[in-house]
Amino acid sequence: MIEKLEEIKLKALDEVEKCNDEASINNAKSKYLGKKSEFSEIMSSMGKLSSDEKREVGAKSNEVRTIVTEAFSNRLKTIKDLELNKKLENDKIDLTLPSKKRKRGTKHPLTLVREEIEDLFISMGYDVVDGPEVDSDSNCFEMLNLPKGHPARDAQDSFYITQEMLLRTHTSTMQVRSMLANVDKKPFKIICPGKTYRRDDDDATHSHQFSQIEGLVVGRDISLSDLKGTLLLLARKMLGNDRDIRFRASYFPFTEPSYEVDVSCFNCNKKGCPMCKGTGWIEILGCGIVHPNVLENCGFDHNKYQGFAFGIGIERVAMLKYGITDIRNFYTNDYRFLNNFDRKEM
Ligand code: PHE
Repeated sequence: MIEKLEEIKLKALDEVEKCNDEASINNAKSKYLGKKSEFSEIMSSMGKLSSDEKREVGAKSNEVRTIVTEAFSNRLKTIKDLELNKKLENDKIDLTLPSKKRKRGTKHPLTLVREEIEDLFISMGYDVVDGPEVDSDSNCFEMLNLPKGHPARDAQDSFYITQEMLLRTHTSTMQVRSMLANVDKKPFKIICPGKTYRRDDDDATHSHQFSQIEGLVVGRDISLSDLKGTLLLLARKMLGNDRDIRFRASYFPFTEPSYEVDVSCFNCNKKGCPMCKGTGWIEILGCGIVHPNVLENCGFDHNKYQGFAFGIGIERVAMLKYGITDIRNFYTNDYRFLNNFDRKEM
């Protein structure tokens, strides 16, 4: 019996090596150790043996069962590993393949400029406020010291919706709205970015719809030097750290004195070039000290309070900053144009 068991062991071990899948292992297992196997027969005939023989045959059969079972499970593991490796090999991912490019949107250049200006003023404690594009004649003109029939109204040919309502011609409407909204008549600082509309014929430098950022500071002891310092920071932040600014006397009915502000040409640095039309300077905004009439119209005592205000064209800054020569590019949504403004600014 011992010999028989040894023979079973050797045969089984021999067959294990030939098994190549799980099914053949299971078959071989039942063939050598299953109920109908020679091994089982030996086990069931053990009762007839003497106790000495029983001990001997029992030990041998345990040995054979352990070794053979182990051999089968090792083989099974090897087969599974081989299968897995084969699968991995077939499903191989080529990490060197270039990825599929996902199209990402980019911020519009006008948004980039607006956000950059907002960041600067937020850092100086200004509130960013928003207001309606359709506003009253009163907020747009009357309260800003431009009574009906005032010659400056002609300069801003406007889109009227009714006799009293129009598309705002400038964001200066927000000067009136913010002063009126300030019921406590306390000092405040705001900027207001937004769309504005004028009856212009569209060409490379004019658009009937464009955008401005209005700035207004009302407080005690506000002077021209505050305005100058603020606008110098603005010019440098937007157009380069070594920019200078200069103030040219101008006229707006709602500021007195009024100025147009030029920034030193960033292309030639004041030497004179085609960009600045040979002058070395480029006009960027209008501003001034808030007119006492406007303060009074909006409920601020002009003997106690002063203010400065400015209005800057976002398109103008973007055109200068990015070298854009046709304002219409901002509105036609042509990807070939917009894709030039990648995320480097963000
Ligand atoms: N509202 C003026 C314009 O549109 C600009 C401006 C704003 C001037 C504030 C002075 C003060 O041209």
